[in-house]
Amino acid sequence: MIGREHIAVLSREVCENLIGTGCKVFVDATIGGAGHSIGLLERYRQLHIIGIDRDKEALDRAEVTLKGYSDRATLLRGNFRDLRQILGGIGVTSMDGILFDLGISSYQLSAGRGFSFNDDEGLDMRMDTRDVLTAYEIVNSFRQEEIARILYEYGEEWQSRRIAKAIFENRRKGRISTARELAAIVASVKKKTGRIHPATKTFQALRIAVNDELGSLSEGMDTAVQLLTPGGRIGIITFHSLEDRMVKQRFRKDSALTVLTPKAIRPGIDEIRSNPRARSAKLRIAEKN
Ligand SMILES: C[S@@+](CC[C@H](N)C(=O)[O-])C[C@H]1O[C@@H](n2cnc3c(N)ncnc32)[C@H](O)[C@@H]1O
Repeated sequence: MIGREHIAVLSREVCENLIGTGCKVFVDATIGGAGHSIGLLERYRQLHIIGIDRDKEALDRAEVTLKGYSDRATLLRGNFRDLRQILGGIGVTSMDGILFDLGISSYQLSAGRGFSFNDDEGLDMRMDTRDVLTAYEIVNSFRQEEIARILYEYGEEWQSRRIAKAIFENRRKGRISTARELAAIVASVKKKTGRIHPATKTFQALRIAVNDELGSLSEGMDTAVQLLTPGGRIGIITFHSLEDRMVKQRFRKDSALTVLTPKAIRPGIDEIRSNPRARSAKLRIAEKN
């Protein structure tokens, strides 16, 4: 299917700051459409990239993007929380650099899985379609208090209780089966402020819960730090404060790391103008001692 084009965020900053001296094996833990990876492969001739994604469609896209580099790129399907096992499967036990570009890609927004409230799509939201839990399941069968908790914890949605109540009342009339229906229910109890859709935080929260994004990030970071060679760098691009806080604290508390970005790197105004998705991006980088 034809999807929206995904533009890699902060790609110049990633290219210029993530490859330390002697970096040979680099892991792109969220390869997506390979926007970052192609830039790295073009610039650093010595690099071999291992690209991971939990979404099969993303890997298919990456393969097309990287077809001229198949001798220097290996693509693997999996969740980066299982980094050790994924790399171990091809006999790799360490790496010289790693990038996590979190969240979903623009392609996934139009993948027919209910990530976008603008489309009439089934409420799914799984990045890996082999996983069991879907947004449909949460919205239609979780208890009202549990839905409120998810919206509050993962969406920082202060109207979580009102929204959960509206979901609960609506589902008594019948199943809530599309993203559009859910977005309309949220909009019926929450006013729009500025240009942001009232269901933005609800959708973020459900996506995080369905894909256990915070649990994956926590385990993925731990393993990545263990597997990095001395002098190797870890870079993480986040798109919301929950993730950014986790990364900032994780980097700070680890005596095995030197933080190279005391302040997160943010996109400039030109990048935000040409790619509005970049507006909330923050890149943090640390080096293994
Ligand atoms: C923002 S996109 C990456 C875009 C990519 N950097 C590019 O330039 O095209 C994030 C990608 O990470 C994948 N992803 C998210 N969480 C993951 C996880 N825990 N394990 C593996 N892949 C994950 C998503 O499926 C998505 O394709």
